[in-house]
Amino acid sequence: MLATKAILALAIGAGVAAAADKPAKHAPAAAPASKNTPASGTKIPTGVKLNDADAKPFMLDSHSYNGLRSDDQFGYLFTHFTSTDEQVYWHLSDGDDPLNFSPLNHAKPILRNNLGSKAARDSFICKNEFTGKTYLIANNQSLISPPQDYQAAYIQNYTGIVVFEAKNDLLTEWSAPHLLPIAPKDSLHVFAPECISDPAKKQVLIHWSGATARDQTQRIYGAYTTDFHSADKPFLYFTDGPNGVGDMTLFKLNFAKDNAKNSSYVRFYRSDADKYAVRGQISDNGLFGAWRDILPLNKSDPVTIDPNTNNQGPLVYKTHRKDQDEFLIWVKDAGDGYEAYETENIRMLPYTRKTAPYFPQNFEQGQVIGLCRKQYDAIKAKFYNSGRRRRGIRLDELVGLADVA
Ligand SMILES: *[C@@H]1O[C@H](CO)[C@@H](O)[C@H](O)[C@H]1NC(C)=O
Ligand SMILES: *[C@@H]1O[C@H](CO)[C@@H](O)[C@H](O)[C@H]1NC(C)=O
Ligand SMILES: *[C@@H]1O[C@H](CO)[C@@H](O)[C@H](O)[C@H]1NC(C)=O
Ligand SMILES: *[C@@H]1O[C@H](CO)[C@@H](O)[C@H](O)[C@H]1NC(C)=O
Repeated sequence: MLATKAILALAIGAGVAAAADKPAKHAPAAAPASKNTPASGTKIPTGVKLNDADAKPFMLDSHSYNGLRSDDQFGYLFTHFTSTDEQVYWHLSDGDDPLNFSPLNHAKPILRNNLGSKAARDSFICKNEFTGKTYLIANNQSLISPPQDYQAAYIQNYTGIVVFEAKNDLLTEWSAPHLLPIAPKDSLHVFAPECISDPAKKQVLIHWSGATARDQTQRIYGAYTTDFHSADKPFLYFTDGPNGVGDMTLFKLNFAKDNAKNSSYVRFYRSDADKYAVRGQISDNGLFGAWRDILPLNKSDPVTIDPNTNNQGPLVYKTHRKDQDEFLIWVKDAGDGYEAYETENIRMLPYTRKTAPYFPQNFEQGQVIGLCRKQYDAIKAKFYNSGRRRRGIRLDELVGLADVA
């Protein structure tokens, strides 16, 4: 029973989880080979080059043009929800510091979903590189209203996600939300939706942690879209045999080197085979390529990002350091919020645990994107009204912040 509860808690990405048990030190004997199920037989060409027009600097960095060196890159945005209010909250980095953040909008929501579940958990921003439009998508589910236990939340039988469309490239103006059905008809849930432009298909791949009445183990499903108002037929994107996987995040590596590398990607996910720890894989030939495990040099070291188990909700972004490729990977420890890991070689474990005084560690699952200077300045001008740096403290400790301005 406890095990089931833990699985569900992790799947949902909720720090409110019962996961009170402090995870034990995890020292796996051997790395289980992850089996990748390629999608739906579609033959996807590799090595497709994006149009030069798409590569102009006024772009989101982290999930669209990571690896593109631009002097314009400045600042980071953390989008997330809180355990007491399942709406879209933002933190902005303190200057170009990739680890220290301050809450925006008096620590009140930036966007609210008033449709369906009336909640927007697990928010994620992505740009459709082929139309230039940016979207924020989220999980159409509430665990607070009405109160749900995880068992019930796992089988809520919904198929869609919440979509907001940015009205400008500065990310300061957004449309009202709409719901986009993406999952199979007998879907049990659509957790942790994310999206990424696929240059091989010139469409956006939306992917999520799902399960169906037919196959109740959590796996990663995908569906392509162009306009975020309709999506193609869903398919199974990633499974690990009989083991559950969830909370997958995909990140495109080395845009500038694509021609040589044929689109390298990294993905991190919650591996139920590894006692719900987060591990990673690399593909050097596209989103449907030959994915292989990211492993430690020393075979005695853990194969997971965090040597502890019981974590989830990974996010990855690239820092703006010009001299080399430096990545930050955040892993959500069920209960304690995010922990940050840094690496200059994302292809090899272990990564280095990082701490920072204003790291926003107690917030719920989301994403960090790199900004350009204009976006940073515009977001700060519009939403940074407290003028106060705040630690990553719990939202209930922030009561009264609105009076500070
Ligand atoms: C990249 O893809 C192109 C076109 O499919 C192919 O001709 C080329 O050999 C590939 N390069 C590498 C390094 O795999
Ligand atoms: C969802 O469907 C399952 C059967 O697949 C059922 O057991 C469950 O009660 C349904 N949940 C809701 C909230 O309707
Ligand atoms: C959104 O969530 C609500 C509340 O659970 C549900 O009734 C509705 O069917 C969902 N819609 C989609 C498209 O997921
Ligand atoms: C590998 O790690 C183990 C356990 O931490 C340690 O005892 C051993 O010395 C390491 N081996 C190398 C070659 O570093």
